Amino acid sequence: QVAAASGHTVVLVDQSDEILRKSTKGIEESLKRVTKKKFADKPEAGAEFIEKTLKNITTSTDAVTVVHSTDLVIEAIVENQEIKNELFKRLDKFAPEHTIFASNTSSLQITQLANSTTRQDRFGGLHFFNPVPMMKLVEVIKTPMTSQKTFESLMDFSKAVGKSPVSCKDTPGFIVNRLLVPYMMEAVRLFERGDASKEDIDVAMKLGAGYPMGPFELLDYVGLDTSKYIIDGWHSLEPNNPLFAPSRLLNKLVEEKKLGKKTGEGFYKY
Ligand code: 3HC
Repeated sequence: QVAAASGHTVVLVDQSDEILRKSTKGIEESLKRVTKKKFADKPEAGAEFIEKTLKNITTSTDAVTVVHSTDLVIEAIVENQEIKNELFKRLDKFAPEHTIFASNTSSLQITQLANSTTRQDRFGGLHFFNPVPMMKLVEVIKTPMTSQKTFESLMDFSKAVGKSPVSCKDTPGFIVNRLLVPYMMEAVRLFERGDASKEDIDVAMKLGAGYPMGPFELLDYVGLDTSKYIIDGWHSLEPNNPLFAPSRLLNKLVEEKKLGKKTGEGFYKY
């Protein structure tokens, strides 16, 4: 959405036409929210902007065909190393020489993903934040193998889509999640111990620390499955780090398919 809105030609690839229809509808709705404020006095210009943006997006279920004519691939599939490696390995065979590969992973090592391809110098991380149309940040991740030219291209692309990029080494959680995820897990532990209710913890962090959402609202917003993938991955890397300890409550909610806002229930009901 943000790439298309800033004039880039985008092909959105997913597993089925049904998912793609749902995604396109989500983009349309989000664009309406964005234009409502931006073009408050000019509804016609707003409608034109939406139409122009949507024209920049086509969809496909066939990544291999699409990659033939792509300058930049941004992968944002399930947080699973093997599945991501397998996708990148396949795309690497069909992508042009100059094509840069980037992952939006929030927890896996970019270096390991890059190693599944033959283009380690044209591989980096581009980590966006929910909700992407509103959050101004992108973390640009440079591995020891990423070339300076690739890094600069990723920084330039981030600016071209209207974001403010920061850079970080290929370390667990980069900057934001390395601070945010242990904080959210610490909130769950505070609640599990019965020290405070989740409602009070959320109110406290909003009114006492100025956060736009409390940790439980944010966990539900990000998705409890995504949060669990992140913490489980880090725990397996550093089992003795108490900041990365899994939570019984989080695991239970995920087992019960209470994944947050997207399933109608997580810590809260929607
Ligand atoms: N698309 C377009 N616009 C959107 C939107 C979306 N998906 N979601 C919200 N907005 C717009 C609304 O339309 C509204 O616009 P307006 O000011 O013109 O009316 C504006 O954002 C504010 O929305 P609301 O009034 O509905 O609610 P809030 O004031 O609470 O703002 C929020 C919503 C921007 C989501 C804010 O609560 C927030 O910043 N929350 C924290 C988000 C955060 O921490 N994200 C990072 C998560 S970590 C992550 O993503 C990393 C990953 O790896 C796990």
